[in-house]
Amino acid sequence: MSNQALAEVILTSLPKLATGKVRDLYDVDDNTLLFVTSDRISAYDVIMKNGIPHKGEILTLLSAHWFNELPKRVPGLRTHFLATDVPSNVTIEEARVIRNRSMQVRKLKVFPLEAIVRGYVTGGAWKEYKDQGTVHGMRLPPGLKQCDAVPGGPIYTPSTKAPAGQHDENISKEEAAKIVGDRYAKRIEELALKIFIAGQEYATERGIIIADTKFEFGLDEVTDEVVLVDEVLTPDSSRMWPKDRYEPGRDQESFDKQFLRNWLTENGLQGKEGVEVPQDVLEATSKRYLEVFQRLTGKSLEETTLG
Ligand SMILES: Nc1ncnc2c1ncn2[C@@H]1O[C@H](COP(=O)(O)OP(=O)(O)OP(=O)(O)O)[C@@H](O)[C@H]1O
Ligand SMILES: [Mg+2]
Repeated sequence: MSNQALAEVILTSLPKLATGKVRDLYDVDDNTLLFVTSDRISAYDVIMKNGIPHKGEILTLLSAHWFNELPKRVPGLRTHFLATDVPSNVTIEEARVIRNRSMQVRKLKVFPLEAIVRGYVTGGAWKEYKDQGTVHGMRLPPGLKQCDAVPGGPIYTPSTKAPAGQHDENISKEEAAKIVGDRYAKRIEELALKIFIAGQEYATERGIIIADTKFEFGLDEVTDEVVLVDEVLTPDSSRMWPKDRYEPGRDQESFDKQFLRNWLTENGLQGKEGVEVPQDVLEATSKRYLEVFQRLTGKSLEETTLG
């Protein structure tokens, strides 16, 4: 496995539709998109100059794993996943570069909502609770410690999906319903909670606490179904903690980009553009991504990509 990070992937075989912070989207045909996941990493909404070795492969193959597992656990769940094969109209040279980091998905209209689910009081939720006793405006019992589980189980805390360069904003369920319509808003909330709880159960058995996450959903306009899209329960979209080290009352040691975030804040670089991340922080982050992949899928990345 090459340890060289791939910060940019340019394909000439297919028309490019969009460049996200981490993924490039290409057009395969009228109904199909190719997601190509780079090793880019963003923290506090800005992209670092250099990438994390293997991150694109991990995010792609871990999402594929969840797209396979989750529908078994959440009856009626539909996803946008089609295949991890590179489409046949990509040249052999380009196929070699994007192997293991590309996914064909169904092209759908994405609802402009971030379907965030929180199982633990951490990050922004902890800050709000500490200051006001609420999380997303909902009052929680007094006396909770940092990183305690949300009493009563996971809660749905939607936000807007802001255009590039702008920050997402927390919104109430009523506001979410105004944006996407009441019926879709309810279905999104129901699915987000069910998927999160199923994912949490699965991960807990493998020694990982999924503290919170962000899902995205799209609409199948033919069947009128709400479909799970984007990436799913990865260390980029979720906070993941090793269960055996979990201890409320402090920050948790995490598998996700918290390590990078901490380095940025300690060095006053939070939100700054074009930050070059030092080698040791890159490697430590890569190691965490690799470990979470192995724990959740039961196979090392190397075993998975050889197979
Ligand atoms: N099935 C789908 N059909 C169409 N678009 C999708 C689908 N699944 C995900 N997307 C969109 O593809 C993009 C994925 O790219 P990426 O994760 O790099 O973006 P991002 O940085 O998270 O956000 P942004 O899209 O605002 O740049 C997201 O905008 C997501 O909404
Ligand atoms: Mg994304």
